[in-house]
Amino acid sequence: MSEVSLVVNGRRVGGVVEDRTLLVQFLREHVGLTGTHVGCDTSQCGACVVHVDGKAVKSCTMLAAQASGSTVVTIEGLANGADLHPVQAAFKEHHGLQCGFCTPGMIMSATDMINRHPEGLDEATVRAELEGNICRCTGYHNIVKAILAASKTRSKSKGKVASK
Ligand code: FES
Ligand code: FES
Repeated sequence: MSEVSLVVNGRRVGGVVEDRTLLVQFLREHVGLTGTHVGCDTSQCGACVVHVDGKAVKSCTMLAAQASGSTVVTIEGLANGADLHPVQAAFKEHHGLQCGFCTPGMIMSATDMINRHPEGLDEATVRAELEGNICRCTGYHNIVKAILAASKTRSKSKGKVASK
């Protein structure tokens, strides 16, 4: 068993978990944050992406024990109360989701992507960077549009769009 302690969406959480507990299981089953989805459990789909110390990570590829001591942001931590995060707002405005299963991972990956490209993004880069996120509704076109729009807003505001 491992004792873990981390900050999730600004709140310290912890507990004793089995050594094999994945970060995604810890977030969903111990912390109760079910917005982070599990599509494959084998590092293929990207539905489980969260930010660990400011970087996008597939939370099915990391043990909860490995994340101990880190600061984690999940999809639930992006909005500021009723105000959607700019990337969430762009997905809403550009119809970047259909069933919504891939959406939390897409948005967490997109937020990280935008912050790593303060100069702005082009379509080819967005499509290449989304390689690790699968949308089974095949809604990539509007997802890419949403990310490009959010990237433009960020370049104009010169502000970081990322997580708390
Ligand atoms: Fe983690 Fe699919 S559940 S990549
Ligand atoms: Fe359904 Fe992407 S919106 S899987």
